[in-house]
Amino acid sequence: MFTREFFLVFVVVLVLATKTKACVPLAVQDLRIHVNGTLTWTLDPDETCTIDSFQVVVEGDREDDYDTSVRSTYVDLSLLKTCEQWKFYVTPVSGGVVGHQTRLIDWIPLPPTADLTLSYFTSTTLKRNDVLLEWGLRNYTHGDCTLQYRLVITDMDTSMIRDFYLTGSSAHVDFLSPCVPYHLALRAVNTAIGGIEGSVLNNTVNIPAYPEDPPELRRIEVGATGINMTWRLENYLLNRCPVENFYLDASIGMNFTVPILDAAGRPPVQVNLSDLTPLNVYTFSAYVRNSGGVSPRVPVAVQTLEFD
Ligand SMILES: *[C@@H]1O[C@H](CO)[C@@H](O)[C@H](O)[C@H]1NC(C)=O
Ligand SMILES: *[C@@H]1O[C@H](CO)[C@@H](O)[C@H](O)[C@H]1NC(C)=O
Ligand SMILES: *[C@@H]1O[C@H](CO)[C@@H](O)[C@H](O)[C@H]1NC(C)=O
Ligand SMILES: *[C@@H]1O[C@H](CO)[C@@H](O)[C@H](O)[C@H]1NC(C)=O
Ligand SMILES: *[C@@H]1O[C@H](CO)[C@@H](O)[C@H](O)[C@H]1NC(C)=O
Ligand SMILES: *[C@@H]1O[C@H](CO)[C@@H](O)[C@H](O)[C@H]1NC(C)=O
Repeated sequence: MFTREFFLVFVVVLVLATKTKACVPLAVQDLRIHVNGTLTWTLDPDETCTIDSFQVVVEGDREDDYDTSVRSTYVDLSLLKTCEQWKFYVTPVSGGVVGHQTRLIDWIPLPPTADLTLSYFTSTTLKRNDVLLEWGLRNYTHGDCTLQYRLVITDMDTSMIRDFYLTGSSAHVDFLSPCVPYHLALRAVNTAIGGIEGSVLNNTVNIPAYPEDPPELRRIEVGATGINMTWRLENYLLNRCPVENFYLDASIGMNFTVPILDAAGRPPVQVNLSDLTPLNVYTFSAYVRNSGGVSPRVPVAVQTLEFD
């Protein structure tokens, strides 16, 4: 008897308990950290529980943790270090029942007041047209996680401008031509807040002249007493040092020199040889001289045809 009554009471208690305990809060949504260091979130639109508070746990990557409970859907975390990676956990609580957790991993971006002044901007030509650019901020106190560096390169001969966004504190640039003066302008940009720009540092790059790449044989026509050749020179955009001459030295003691009018662009060079001996092997070497010197030589061996 006693057992049966106890069982009934137990069932009633259980029903009451599950009735009051039924509300487990849903995970919050839209968790984000703002530039001013405020963490915000919103309730799930389907939330039916009455939320009393939110547990907020913040873990840094240097074992610096922070723990609080708030009634609002935001918390001011502006005291946390910027540009350190943080894990934010927000859990709604309803009537003592802890709900589902939401997690965000993010940086606290650089504030609008961050010092964007560059302390230096150097350029070093390493070899041929490999130019190393290096720069630094005056003050890294806030870090540089949301910074980019805007590089504007102006070709002072053509006034053509190219614009790049870089990260880090150095870059290799390998598309500039020798014999052309370039003006470089660099500034830091805080991308966290619509691109606030710091002051500019200027630089110039003047890559010293160097020889052309070897010419390429594009076309050859061989007859019994003549050989016609078309040679292509290195692209004008890659090496704009003025080309002086194209040379073709022949084994038979004939040397051909073709002056190049190198104002802009660089048309192929044609060399037509005549009065050659049929069925004879001729060897040549072709090369180009520009203001930086002589290119590597390209050897060619050709046998003339039989007379018809
Ligand atoms: C921080 O930024 C958020 C979003 O822009 C804004 O709602 C909030 O009022 C700001 N808080 C402070 C303390 O400025
Ligand atoms: C760097 O910036 C921080 C914060 O703005 C400032 O307290 C500090 O004095 C600055 N350091 C230098 C060397 O300017
Ligand atoms: C950098 O170059 C620009 C354009 O030539 C010029 O207007 C500016 O005054 C220069 N700034 C500095 C700091 O030299
Ligand atoms: C080379 O070109 C000339 C015209 O300049 C032509 O008369 C000759 O036939 C050509 N030789 C060959 C081998 O094609
Ligand atoms: C052809 O040119 C080469 C070097 O440019 C030179 O060594 C050679 O003596 C020249 N030959 C003749 C026949 O001029
Ligand atoms: C060489 O020959 C080609 C035809 O093969 C002709 O078009 C060209 O004008 C000739 N060039 C010279 C410099 O004789």
